This record gives sequence, C-alpha cells and structure tokens, in this order.
Amino acid sequence: MQHLSMICTDLHSDLQSLLAEYDPSQVVFVIDEAVKHAPSAVSHQKSAFSLSVTEEGKSLATVQQIWDFLIERRITRRGVIVAVGGGVVTDLAGFAAATYQRGIAYVNVPTTLLAMVDASTGGKTGFNYGGLKNCIGAFHEPLATLIYPPFLATLPPREMLSGYAEMLKTGLIEYSPSRPRARHQPSAISHQKSEISKVRPALFHRLLQYDLETMPIDSLTPLIADCIGIKGRIVAADPRERNLRKALNLGHTFGHALEEMAIRHHGHGLSHQKSSVRSQILPHGYAVLYGLIAELYLSVTLAGCPREPLQQLTSLMLRYYGRPQCACSDRGQLIELMHRDKKNERAADINCTLIRSVGCPLTNQHITDAQAAEAWDYIFSL
Ligand SMILES: NC(=O)c1ccc[n+]([C@@H]2O[C@H](COP(=O)([O-])OP(=O)(O)OC[C@H]3O[C@@H](n4cnc5c(N)ncnc54)[C@H](O)[C@@H]3O)[C@@H](O)[C@H]2O)c1
Repeated sequence: MQHLSMICTDLHSDLQSLLAEYDPSQVVFVIDEAVKHAPSAVSHQKSAFSLSVTEEGKSLATVQQIWDFLIERRITRRGVIVAVGGGVVTDLAGFAAATYQRGIAYVNVPTTLLAMVDASTGGKTGFNYGGLKNCIGAFHEPLATLIYPPFLATLPPREMLSGYAEMLKTGLIEYSPSRPRARHQPSAISHQKSEISKVRPALFHRLLQYDLETMPIDSLTPLIADCIGIKGRIVAADPRERNLRKALNLGHTFGHALEEMAIRHHGHGLSHQKSSVRSQILPHGYAVLYGLIAELYLSVTLAGCPREPLQQLTSLMLRYYGRPQCACSDRGQLIELMHRDKKNERAADINCTLIRSVGCPLTNQHITDAQAAEAWDYIFSL
C-alpha cells in the first residue's frame, strides 16, 4: 500500500488533522535535538523523547531508550510515534514503532533534505549493528510523511549536499511505470540482469541546473516532490525489494562500504575528536555520491553507459564534495565489507545496481572483486 507523502505549507494543521483520531496521551514525539527552531507544531510537545543524533548513535541502545520511553508513557497498541528529524531519527523511531507491541503507527516529519527525498518514505527502518549499516531492521510503512521545506533553512550546506546526492541517484534511475520496459540485455556482465525502464531523463538534468552555490529552497521544492513521486512509484510496485526497488540502491554498495569503514575507524583516524564531530565526517549522501561515481564507472565499463553522467558527477564531487578520505591501501577492507552487504544473496557475491543510461537501471548486477577494485582505483585516482 502506498502511504501518504505530502509537501505541507501548514505543518501544524496537517499534523492535527492526521492525528485527530488518536488519543493525545497516546501520541509520542521522537525529535532530533538539532531542530531547535522547529515550529510549535513539533516543538514544546509534552511527550517528547529528544535525542542528539550521530550515525554511531543509530544503535540498539537508542532503540531501547525509545522503547523504555513508550513503556513509561503507557503507550498501547493504539499509540502513534511522530518522528521529527533526519534519516537517523526516522529509521530509529520507525524501527521502534515496527517492534513495540508488535507494531504501532508512526508519522514521519523529515527535517533534512536526505530524509525528505529518501529516508522517510518507503518503510525501511532499522539501525546499525556489528559495524554494519542498517544490519537490523524491519519494513514498516509510516502512516504518512509530512514534508515541510522551511526546516531546510537551518540545515548546514554539507547536509544539503548530502541530500542532493540521493536526489541525483533518484534522477539517474528515474522510473515511470507508463513507459515500456527495454528488453535488450548487456552481455558484458554476469547473470540475473533485469533492465527496468527507459524513461525521460528530465529530473537528472533539472537537478544539474540547481544552484548549489545559493541552494534556494523554493526551486528545490518541486525537485523534492519529483523525487518522492519516483520513490513512491517504485516502492508501490515492489515494497519488499524483490527486484525493481533494488534500483534505489544505486551507489549504495560502494557507499555503504565507505560508511561502514568510517564508523569502524571512528572517522578515518580522527578518533580523538568528539563523536559529534566524527559523525559529520562522512554524511550518508557523501558516501552515496562516491558510490554513484564508482557504480557509474562500472556502468560505463560493463554496461555500455555513456560517460557523460560519470563526468558530471565527478566534476560535482571535485567542486563541492571533495575526495573520499581513503586510499588504495583501504581497498581490500572495502571489498571485504562489500561482500557483507545485505543486498548479496550469497557471501561470495557483490551485488549492485548499475545503469545502462540515465533512467535505465540494471538491478542484480554481480561484479567480481577485480571489477570492484578497478572502480575503487578510479575513485582513488581522481
Ligand atoms: N530508510 C531508508 O529508506 C533510508 C534511505 C536513505 C538513508 N537512510 C538513512 O538515513 C540516515 C542519514 O540521514 P540524514 O542525512 O538525514 O542524517 P541525520 O539524521 O544524521 O541528520 C544529519 C544532521 O543534520 C542534523 N539536522 C537534522 N535536521 C536539521 C535541521 N532542520 N537543521 C539543522 N540540522 C538538522 C542532525 O542532527 C544531524 O546532525 C542514514 O543513517 C541512512 O542509513 C535511510
């Protein structure tokens, strides 16, 4: 079932009407402390669990604290959680909602660009475990996702860039069910290929026109709406990620390995820094951007994708994101982490999504260690 995802101009009244049928004593807010200037619709709540967000804190311990809070407040099966924050908060609160008393309702109010365009829709919830990204989780659709773009006014540019990378990913795989599926299969790569669709590449090109110097929220809002629409259509067609939804993992096989290495190494050797500083070292979207470049490199070399999108993302990286903080000596560990990715069906696999061209994703692409090493070397050579 496709859940309600809407861009709202009056968060207060939209939340009120959504929660009208709930007993107010059964409504619990889980709020990111960073949302300091949140509108009164979400700040000053009596029943609010607020947390200081770091990727390292996306843990079982934090989930337990939310469960404890729900128990203390005597929340029943008719309770509802309102998650206000970035992807860490919506993933954690969503998992607490999925598991508390075998599942209660929750509403997402994303406050980062990344959570607006990606993390808060689609029903994937969870936390990091054993040094692995989102290793424990559950599918649990929110009742609704309310997107209030003015939250972005306080978001640091780095976090805007992080969300913009997930938007680029969505643009690269843009999916429209009305278009016929392309049938041709590339021959350069191994079995189980599935080419999903050939659709208009408009979003990707409109994203490239977006002014990253000034990052105006007004012109971003329609692009956010497009990203949610595309993700919503994909999730509605394949809610449990049997195949089509894997397109949304573009960039994530390489990206997650970088993130896991960052979590394990406490910020690439910067472990003397405070955790709040460390958590800023590799935002999720930065890892995704590096992953997109690696997977576009393989798309060019293995699937015949034109070089243009690879060049476009590479120049965006050099201009705005900087290079990843790792080197050739990390390659072995990164490949080992890729083998442990939950997208693999067997431990010997490295399964990733590639594209044949913009708008034409190829899921279930099995790459060899040598191909992965070549893509990492491309990244390290930039
Ligand atoms: N469930 C999914 O489908 C899905 C999809 C993509 C990503 N994710 C997950 O999302 C997480 C990344 O999400 P994220 O990028 O939102 O990171 P995040 O939740 O860590 O937020 C980034 C930073 O922004 C701060 N912040 C939040 N809102 C703010 C605001 N309005 N103003 C100022 N600061 C604000 C946070 O405190 C944090 O420091 C990752 O853990 C990733 O695995 C999940």
